[in-house]
Amino acid sequence: RPRILLDCDPGHDDAIAILLAARHSELLGVTTVSGNAPLERTTRNALVTLQLAGLDVPVHAGAARPLVERARHAPDIHGASGLGGPELPELTRRAASEEAVRFIVDTVRAHGSQPHRDPTAPLWLVAVGPLTNVALALREAPDLAQRLAGIAIMGGGVGFGNRTMAAEFNIWADPEAAEVVFSSGATLIMCGLNLTHQFMIREADVARIRGLGNPVATFTADLLAFYARAYAEAFFTRPEGPLHDPCAVLAVTHPHLIRTEPRHVRIELRGEHTRGMTVVDERGVRSDLTPNVQVGYEIAREAALEVLCETLASYGA
Ligand code: BDR
Ligand code: CA
Repeated sequence: RPRILLDCDPGHDDAIAILLAARHSELLGVTTVSGNAPLERTTRNALVTLQLAGLDVPVHAGAARPLVERARHAPDIHGASGLGGPELPELTRRAASEEAVRFIVDTVRAHGSQPHRDPTAPLWLVAVGPLTNVALALREAPDLAQRLAGIAIMGGGVGFGNRTMAAEFNIWADPEAAEVVFSSGATLIMCGLNLTHQFMIREADVARIRGLGNPVATFTADLLAFYARAYAEAFFTRPEGPLHDPCAVLAVTHPHLIRTEPRHVRIELRGEHTRGMTVVDERGVRSDLTPNVQVGYEIAREAALEVLCETLASYGA
């Protein structure tokens, strides 16, 4: 069982990532960042998700804005609250601190392997929002790169974006932070849009999840119904939504479900049309540069859906 620190901006798929990570890892903490919604909302949403599921995991709030640009959010996909759809219960919990970066640095130093990686006790950082907190932690403590088994990222992609033609939301929202992380020397797994768009949740899947009948499954079904509709409206597609963030959790907890290839990946910081793009050397044209990222190319969609349904069923047991 890996240990995980989950950095997120809930967000529908972030909430589901929390539910998965809590069941399939030792989840040491959840840190929040500005992204899908303002920090105050993403922190609330992380707390609400854990509260609903009866999970005792500390939440530490982090960066309220990206390193350089102003904060930008995604109400078109996630609603103004960041968790549009279900009726949210009254919050009875509070964040453990507003020092997510401090918490990440201290936890990795206390629990990560040093100075070399210890394969028997992997500690992973799973990052499924803009990479601001992760970059600040690595900048303060570059040794984290070697103490972590790795960082599994939902962000970027090979070939297409979703906020611009080239850029995916999490990288687009804080490209400078992404650059710090991608050049940190840490072991990186990138679950980008080319991968996550293979894990589509359709209406029949939402019905199956609703049929599980427990409150966490109902909450998830309400989230997914809203999310699939928002995707359909924003991108003129069928009512189905990609389960982006769960892919990054599964890359750590169920690595056999995801096929990756080593690639050299850089973050575009200056392009007129491409700022925030993950530039992937698909054909090794820069053979002088060593691969810095395990890029996800394929996910076993049906098996991943089974894991999700079994996990949600377990919250009723
Ligand atoms: C990413 O952006 C957010 O909307 C999702 O939570 C996911 O992390 C997909 O581009
Ligand atoms: Ca997210």
